[in-house]
Amino acid sequence: MSAKIMDGNMLAREMRAEWKGRAQHLAERGMQPGLAVIIVGDDPASRIYVRNKAKACGETGIYSEIHEFPDSVSQDDVIQRIQELNGDIRIHGILVQLPLPPHFESVKVFASIAAEKDVDGFHLSNVGALATGNAVFPPCTPHGVMHLLRRYGIPIEGQHAVVVGRSNIVGKPMALMLLQKGATVTICTSKTRDLAAHTRRADILVVAAGKPRMITADMVKVGATVIDVGINRLPDGRLTGDVDFDSVSEKAGHITPVPGGVGPMTITMLLCNTIEAAERAQARN
Ligand code: GUN
Repeated sequence: MSAKIMDGNMLAREMRAEWKGRAQHLAERGMQPGLAVIIVGDDPASRIYVRNKAKACGETGIYSEIHEFPDSVSQDDVIQRIQELNGDIRIHGILVQLPLPPHFESVKVFASIAAEKDVDGFHLSNVGALATGNAVFPPCTPHGVMHLLRRYGIPIEGQHAVVVGRSNIVGKPMALMLLQKGATVTICTSKTRDLAAHTRRADILVVAAGKPRMITADMVKVGATVIDVGINRLPDGRLTGDVDFDSVSEKAGHITPVPGGVGPMTITMLLCNTIEAAERAQARN
């Protein structure tokens, strides 16, 4: 192995300790940060994510509540609950776990969240703020990646960054954040012709495609920084990323493991955004 491992667990621990202090400081002044998480349906992975988010809140001094709805719930009922939470002074952040059932229009659901409580950064006004370089709540996963790059001293300005995946949650905001920091950015999708020709030119390669081990060593430049956002469960139950870690780590300069790379940073950024939302609410009072 030649690549340096980018340890998301370690950075998450460091950041959570710092932000826990900020949460305590707020609580001492009568404003404990609060997060409401909404989950619709019984997708097993989503249930685990939601439980982990609530646990992390507890460990960081954030009050949290989980609002569960069956698959059959109407979009209007969920929006009504969001509107109640918009007016709830104990709640500073509202997160609607994705994916939502097919009869939901997620843009409408996110539009109903008060923008100042949109700790996921998915409300159109927050998407627009990010796109114009004025992010208010940067989406958690790509923001966590930016912290990892900074912590490991990876230069961004003038570098060629290639993002594989164009989702609204990861790929698109990731590309915008790298662009904002001065990278030359290529976004690849499942339809991209000769993907390897693009990925081989990357100084920074971020992969969020949801395809187990799709990035192999021949697709990576020597010394590149490789960020693996994928979490895939193999038939034997083990987790693996979108990057073939064993071969790529022989060639890359830096690499994130799965698990223990980007994953712990996503929840950490949610905690940070929630505490920041509470700090802003206090400043408005
Ligand atoms: N599902 C997978 N990732 C995310 C995320 O970052 N936020 C929400 N709300 N749902 C998700």
